[in-house]
Amino acid sequence: MDKMWAGRFSKSLEKEADDFNSSIHFDSRMYKQDITGSMVHAMMLSRRGIITKDEYADILNGLSGILEDIESGKLQIDSDAEDIHMFIESVLTKRIGDNGKKLHTARSRNDQVALDIRLYLREECEEIGGLLKKLITVIRDKAAENKSTILPGYTHLQRAQPITFAHHLLAYGMMFKRDFERIGDALKRMNYSPIGSCALAGTTYDTDREFEAERLGFDGITLNSIDGVSDRDFCIELLSAFATLMMHLSRFSEEIILWSSWEFKFVELDDGYTTGSSIMPQKKNPDMAELVRGKTGRVYGDLMALLTTLKGLPLAYNKDMQEDKESVFDAVDTVKKCLRVFTPMVETMKVLKDNMYKAAGEGFINATDLADYLVKKGMPFRTAYKHVGEIVAFCIDNGYILDNLPIEKYKEFDALFEDDLYAEISLETCVNKRISAGGTGPASVERQIDYITEFLND
Ligand code: ARG
Repeated sequence: MDKMWAGRFSKSLEKEADDFNSSIHFDSRMYKQDITGSMVHAMMLSRRGIITKDEYADILNGLSGILEDIESGKLQIDSDAEDIHMFIESVLTKRIGDNGKKLHTARSRNDQVALDIRLYLREECEEIGGLLKKLITVIRDKAAENKSTILPGYTHLQRAQPITFAHHLLAYGMMFKRDFERIGDALKRMNYSPIGSCALAGTTYDTDREFEAERLGFDGITLNSIDGVSDRDFCIELLSAFATLMMHLSRFSEEIILWSSWEFKFVELDDGYTTGSSIMPQKKNPDMAELVRGKTGRVYGDLMALLTTLKGLPLAYNKDMQEDKESVFDAVDTVKKCLRVFTPMVETMKVLKDNMYKAAGEGFINATDLADYLVKKGMPFRTAYKHVGEIVAFCIDNGYILDNLPIEKYKEFDALFEDDLYAEISLETCVNKRISAGGTGPASVERQIDYITEFLND
């Protein structure tokens, strides 16, 4: 294909170099954004008298036809084209003749691509936001079903204190809510239109950048044309938000993998989201959760790649920046794929409440509460802590747990112990009496569910 910029050159690009230079195989996905941007650009040119109304009508018609034909499959995107911007402009010119050649007045591919990727990310983030809200809804609903499901809470992966499954799930609810907001915050900063920055220095034409920004749904224009074409920090911010989201999905996946092992048996994943082994007939593997955990690495990689690509670039546009798209697209695709599988996997996961409860009853998980019992009877916490430590050691040596150690034995440790201690250290009491704000107690869990619900209804 003849290059639009061929005029200055005496021979054409070597084949390997041409392929190397081309971005069409990945940036073709921005055809819609590119056409939308071009339509608004042409409208602005005509309003400012830079092109005539007839020329504008011709261009608009041509662009609409191209859009329609790409969508219907009638027009194949040419894999030999340099990039999507060149491809669309060349088809336009082929179809409508010289008027097509006027479209690129007062712009450059540098501001064009900076615009397209913003439009692309805005749409994708809308979709990712919807997928995230769906996940948060599933978490909220599962929490509401498990307000009295007790399981061990862990620190260092050692049984620590009893909690409700609702409380545990809602921790993820809070994290994913922040992920949603992080994406929104980055979008707010991104939502300024670079179109009209041109190659780097602006243009001699009397353009109307505000008009274009408004038509394209931006909050304003980028005020420095060099920044307009050089800036990719919005991609970095979004990739960083995606990486954080993936990190949360990965931690949740890790827990689901542990919980569905025979060692824990806290949940059972639905057959639709598990796989079998090629050799071991008994196996039911949590592949989806493992893949989400695994794919987290690739999104981190996308972020690192972009940060590294940009770190040494002088202003303004450099071809290195073409590399931004594969990282951005891969991160977007990965996050969407993960959310689409992860959410229904959690939704259909069976909670094995009895096993959770049993595990909570086995691990001296109420030792803090026994210490608190003594504290409430007047003993300083550190003394109580030491006493209970000794009692736990005694129980371990003699085959007791705190709940079945006879009261006479307790009294040998301290006269403050009375029969009421057993009720005080029951799992239900341990959970229900955790009344502090944000704790695992029922009022706090209720408040968290309301908070998430308000966010979802917003
Ligand atoms: N395909 C290019 C990219 O993605 C478009 C911008 C090219 N600009 C240029 N001056 N060569 O970055």
